[in-house]
Amino acid sequence: MFRGVFGIAANVMFAIVLMSSCSSEYIVSSPNERIQVTFKTNEGTLFYIIKKDGSVIVDNSKLGFEIQGQPKLGSYFVVTDVDEYTFDKTWLQPWGEEKNIRNHYNCLTLTLQESAEPERVLKIVFKVYDDGVGFRYEFPEQPNLKDFVVTEELTEFNLSADPLVWWIPAYGDEIDSEFLFRNNLLSDLTEKAHTPLTMEWGDTLFTSIHEAALLDYPAMTLASSGKSLRADLVPYASGIKAKLSTPFKTPWRTIQIADKPADLITSHLILNLNDPNKLGDQPWIKPGKYNGVWWGMHIKKYTWEHGPHHGASTENVKKYIDFASKNKIGGVLVEGWNEGWDGDWSSGKFNFTKPYPDFNIDTLTLYASAKGVSLIGHHETGGNIDNYENQLEDAFEFYQKRGIHTVKTGYVSRRPNGDRWQQGQQMVRHYQHVVDVAVAHEIMLDIHEPVKDTGLRRTYPNLMTREGARGMEYEAWSQGNPPGHTEVLPFTRCLAGPLDYTPGIFDLLIRSRPENKVHTTLAKQLALYVTIYSPLQMVADLPENYEGQPAFNFIRDVPTDWEHTRVLNAKIGNYLTIVRKDRNSDDWYLGSTTDEKGRTLTIKLDFLLPQRKYEAQIYADGEDADVETNPLAINIKQKNVTSDEFLELKLAPGGGQAIRFHLLD
Ligand code: NOJ
Ligand code: CA
Repeated sequence: MFRGVFGIAANVMFAIVLMSSCSSEYIVSSPNERIQVTFKTNEGTLFYIIKKDGSVIVDNSKLGFEIQGQPKLGSYFVVTDVDEYTFDKTWLQPWGEEKNIRNHYNCLTLTLQESAEPERVLKIVFKVYDDGVGFRYEFPEQPNLKDFVVTEELTEFNLSADPLVWWIPAYGDEIDSEFLFRNNLLSDLTEKAHTPLTMEWGDTLFTSIHEAALLDYPAMTLASSGKSLRADLVPYASGIKAKLSTPFKTPWRTIQIADKPADLITSHLILNLNDPNKLGDQPWIKPGKYNGVWWGMHIKKYTWEHGPHHGASTENVKKYIDFASKNKIGGVLVEGWNEGWDGDWSSGKFNFTKPYPDFNIDTLTLYASAKGVSLIGHHETGGNIDNYENQLEDAFEFYQKRGIHTVKTGYVSRRPNGDRWQQGQQMVRHYQHVVDVAVAHEIMLDIHEPVKDTGLRRTYPNLMTREGARGMEYEAWSQGNPPGHTEVLPFTRCLAGPLDYTPGIFDLLIRSRPENKVHTTLAKQLALYVTIYSPLQMVADLPENYEGQPAFNFIRDVPTDWEHTRVLNAKIGNYLTIVRKDRNSDDWYLGSTTDEKGRTLTIKLDFLLPQRKYEAQIYADGEDADVETNPLAINIKQKNVTSDEFLELKLAPGGGQAIRFHLLD
């Protein structure tokens, strides 16, 4: 039982101010003391406040729930126990952007009990880091709260100012999350928005609201009113939000807090709030590159369905395997190999164990393995969850039996199973069920049209990558992605986790589709391998478009698993430069990209080892390159450099630059 003290405790990290039996304050600070969270009960109602460097960022914001058939959970509370501790451990990521991650925070847990009937108990846990705050609710097992239905989560984020927000709609009229980002003042946000919701508060404060460890609970979207945001959980068709049973822990509500946009990218708050690896070291979990029968369908050279232009024919797939083998690409994705692609994809016709007659999977797995390559399987569900779940075990066993360890899944539909939302509790459960079945069959996942990433890759390292964004495919058949799109993604969607954006298109003018084109220069396509992190990175264009192209050497060299990541410069929506060190060599790789504006950025090479010589293999935009008029112009050159030098990166409008720094001695 907590025994309150009046006044402020001596410890600067944790402090308690007890005002009366039903009004009290508890303070917890980050290890560097710059971020401070105050939890308050005010006449039994629950609030929190977040400050940075003494200034309020999140002002008095309510906490609690509405529960079906019960009084609101959030009033008449008294604190019955307080627990506080400091944690500091470094853990190793089996694969990722950074090999060793420090998990350093101060934790404050409050146990609360209603002072009136039905005397329910709720815990709130705050973890305060140097890079932000996470908090979650816990419902302990108790007599008056067993199986219950949440009709509303009452968490608020009342912001102290009116920052610029970068956002996509949560209930848009196309496939979930596949939108261009919009940018406006928070007070002008009129639709419900997905997270991560990134905010720019001037030049020295950047924040992003998201969540960590989303399991068995609906995703949180944000509804706004003035400068205030509140959690808006993705509902069931009936309108209820979540069906829960005690004991239960909600996902963490997260607020990343940074002095500059670069620091949002290197924040590990979301991963740190997830549970450690549950799978142990698994030899079948390996990052890598893949090509595949994919872009050809999007540009309508091939079809998914069986017919004269069928992409997934044995003969055609062999060409992709040959190309992969020649270029040290480990995986070959094959879409459109199985029965069911004709007609409506949501109709439940997909059969996940029955290949089309011209696709001989056994011939191809043998052919691939003789060449040191693996096939990557594909399950397009069309959002028909029942049809997929009915076949799930067999579908994964089919691949496991053939030594295939990676499967790309897809959920093309706006409302899975007709009436679900992609991010509701039922779908969160479905995606997790697929992860569990994949683990049982030693399979890594690349999920398209996914539930949003909340860092579960830490707990389940077979959860490699996912889409959940407007990816490269839109360049093939829509008005495309303007150059600034890839200057927003690293500060928004990518804060959630790896993104399978599928870079590497060389035929930027898409010769077979004059009405479509890719909105980058060639050098920028290379730079995207570094700026948009994914442990499985696609080499997306047709093999014939890489033939005889010296720029392809960068794609052949670039790894997908990193020891370190540094962001050298960044402005949300405009440009960024990232360098990453290969995990398996001493080489560093740089990616720098810009929006529709050309610019010259000067960088210092002090990330390289001191007093060592590197060969910089530079893939720069050509002198007169321009995304609109001359996207293919590229200037490839070599230059020896050391860590005390500076480099000028000249980026064309819509352009970029990629560099491999190869250690020479
Ligand atoms: C949408 C996915 O994003 C894309 O990569 C895939 O090719 C199609 N669905 C077909 O499954
Ligand atoms: Ca998609």
